[in-house]
Amino acid sequence: MSVPSHQLPLHDADAARDADQALREHADLARHWHLADLFADDPERFQRLSLSACGLLADFSKQRLDPATLDKLRGLATARGLDAWMRCLFEGGEVNWTEGRAAMHWRLREPGRAEGEDDPVRDQLARMERMVTRILSGQWRGCEGDAITDVVNMGVGGSDLGPLMASVALHEHQPDRGKRPRLHFVSSMDGSQIAPLLDELNPATTLIVLSSKSFTTVDTLSNAATARYWLEQAFPDRNGAVLRCHFIGVSAMPERMSEWGIHDDNQLLFWEWVGGRYSLWSTIGLPIALTIGMEGFRELLTGAHDLDRHFREAPWEANLPVLMGLIDVWNLNYLDITARAVLPYDGRLKHWPAYVEQLEMESNGKSVDRGGELVDYHTCPVIWGEVGPNAQHAFYQLLHQGTQPVACEFIAAARHGRNGNSAELQPLEEQHTLTLANCLAQSRLLALGDRALEEGGDTPAYKRYRGNQPSTTLLMDELTPYHLGALVALYEHKVFVQAVLWGINPFDQWGVEMGKKIAKDMIRVLENGEGSDGLDASTRALAGYVRQQQT
Ligand code: F6P
Repeated sequence: MSVPSHQLPLHDADAARDADQALREHADLARHWHLADLFADDPERFQRLSLSACGLLADFSKQRLDPATLDKLRGLATARGLDAWMRCLFEGGEVNWTEGRAAMHWRLREPGRAEGEDDPVRDQLARMERMVTRILSGQWRGCEGDAITDVVNMGVGGSDLGPLMASVALHEHQPDRGKRPRLHFVSSMDGSQIAPLLDELNPATTLIVLSSKSFTTVDTLSNAATARYWLEQAFPDRNGAVLRCHFIGVSAMPERMSEWGIHDDNQLLFWEWVGGRYSLWSTIGLPIALTIGMEGFRELLTGAHDLDRHFREAPWEANLPVLMGLIDVWNLNYLDITARAVLPYDGRLKHWPAYVEQLEMESNGKSVDRGGELVDYHTCPVIWGEVGPNAQHAFYQLLHQGTQPVACEFIAAARHGRNGNSAELQPLEEQHTLTLANCLAQSRLLALGDRALEEGGDTPAYKRYRGNQPSTTLLMDELTPYHLGALVALYEHKVFVQAVLWGINPFDQWGVEMGKKIAKDMIRVLENGEGSDGLDASTRALAGYVRQQQT
């Protein structure tokens, strides 16, 4: 099924040049458009420029574009071979050509194959389900025979951000709230997360999940070593029981897990063809399953699978990931808007910005194209974000009256869908409406400026709002596992669409690899000064200062 990298689709360079030129000319006009005029000129603008699929409504009408812009962008996508690249992705081609790998995260959410047929994905999910059942039912025991009260996920990047984001977002969907083990996440290598946690936890009732695709990431392994030390101090001489009862490993590298000491029965696998930042659908999603149960986890997969089908089947005019990808390209490469703010109006999505930052910037922060040439255009914008209502009191001033254009992305759930004890609290429903009112008001003000308020005239310049900040609003009908699955898959595919247009590989991260390597060399410099002569003057002096302070 694998398509070797030398058979990857090519693009039509001449057609791409023409499409790019047409977009540049179009952008020369569009740069003078104001969103307030676009709305005034076309009462049907929302109908023309909004779209829904899989329980998500996307409103692109507050973007600085018109239907002709989208036609031209689709022309560029055709010339760049998007169709063939999509086929290649879903046929398991080596779309990650610098590592000679497929990228088949979509395969993880396909319905399982029939019993009897070979299906490693289904088998690992079943293995994960057995563990989830044992942990949640209290059958999984610590080495003293106690049921587990606390599960700590240790991982970083894709082995942390996806499970963390989704577990927090879906916290209210726990089937039996309050009765489950508490879930904790430790990612940072500096010990600042694990130290206070170990102070609180009871080693007898704590289960550690070591999540690392490579099982070589120093951040995770250093936290793991500390946790192992803590447990072995608490329970000395237990003849392997500490490792067997208190550690689960999740990785694509079973031999490395075994070498570290993870018991065979406690190993969950996934595969090289699942990128770290695309892995929450795999056994890396164990913390999510512990939060919402396996039924909830399967709903998450279904939402993502439905979005996969939408991406594969919907015509580009009505294709959410394609349109989102094209619009980001328009903002960055044609309107020169180099920053994007991600603004969830829902505290349950508080880790969404960090998740998207990794997904997009680690995927598309690249500058070499498929031909090995440096690109002469921007790829991925700078992305940052925060829960919207808090951001209003932090950086919105810059969005409203600063000097830089920023594309904004508003995300909210139309219905809160509250359950549990708080479902009875009417004021909470009002708070949800208040939050949505803020979301809609902010995107309106950013788009229209003070023309939204019909103020102007004598208003002093420092009180004026220029507006014209473009935004997309994404409304989920409700924040359920299904909707979150669809939302995440939408972003994953959007990132792919952009990468095809930019001609880059979104599935490698060589820049990060180099950072990991040179940090290792620096440890020796700090420990004993070894190798400091070869350093630049700044790093040498800083290392010297640290050593002096530590002695
Ligand atoms: O940040 C680099 C990276 O390789 C990410 O792509 C990955 O998600 C993270 O490190 C963690 O890697 P691992 O799961 O192998 O520990």
